[in-house]
Amino acid sequence: MAYETIETRIEAGKVGIVALNRPKQLNALNDQLMDELGAALKAFDADDAIGCIVVTGSQKAFAAGADISVMTKYSFADVYKSEYISRNWEHVRSIRKPVIAAVAGFALGGGCELAMMCDFIIAADNARFGQPEIKLGIIPGAGGTQRLPRSVGKSKAMDMILTSRMMDAQEAERAGLVSRVVPLDKLMDEVLAAAIVIADMPRLAAMAAKESVNRAFESPLSDGVMFERRLFHALFSTADQEEGMEAFLAKRAPSFSHR
Ligand code: HXC
Repeated sequence: MAYETIETRIEAGKVGIVALNRPKQLNALNDQLMDELGAALKAFDADDAIGCIVVTGSQKAFAAGADISVMTKYSFADVYKSEYISRNWEHVRSIRKPVIAAVAGFALGGGCELAMMCDFIIAADNARFGQPEIKLGIIPGAGGTQRLPRSVGKSKAMDMILTSRMMDAQEAERAGLVSRVVPLDKLMDEVLAAAIVIADMPRLAAMAAKESVNRAFESPLSDGVMFERRLFHALFSTADQEEGMEAFLAKRAPSFSHR
């Protein structure tokens, strides 16, 4: 499929990369971009060769937020009737394979929210995260008021959302928003290395692990633990559980069939 606002490629035969590509607007997010992003993510999710997906931007911006030049024309009736955001911005949440956000430069507003919808964030040392919507007379609308406090705690989330200040990469790592910070010129190498490690894991276990960790944010502890336990039990029916354990005991490398 030909895309105009994103670029896609496959690395190492098993990692799907989606790069947001509206450089003149610092990858500001509009409906076309979100539709194309959703289509690309779904295509990689359905491709048996792909074991991990990466969403990234440019060195200057992951995404500087929703496109303000579009939003400025909207009324309440427009956004409410058309289900703005809910309609097509949250595809990444339905992707079952692991998705890494590789963030360099600005991740602001909807850009920060998109990064937080991914499974984890690896940041370049020039990354800057923020939810500056309040300066535009709105609030975060793609999950920022919900995911940011779950990630960095209430105090820091309130600070960022109410003052609009940006967090640099080091603060984001200290706060738990990102899993690691790497030099800008190493970002894609580091992310690709992590993505290859994940893609080589037994696929069903990786998908179950993702589903189970995400359940931690959606349910009380006892329900989440029960969900985990059921998936844990179910993995004993897979060929890769047998292979992984036999290989360990035989002191050889496992050969996973992803079944
Ligand atoms: C549309 C944008 C944009 C945006 C940048 N641009 N952000 N266009 N929507 N969100 C455009 C600028 O207008 C400019 O276009 C070009 O990109 C380069 O931006 P500059 O401002 O010249 O760059 P710089 O001085 O380096 O400043 C970078 C910046 C600043 C700090 C990121 O652009 C900025 O503050 N942007 C807005 C960030 C923001 O408020 N995001 C939240 C949006 S609301 P021209 O044509 O002049 O070259 C949101 C809602 C989320 O995301 C809820 C629903 C998803």
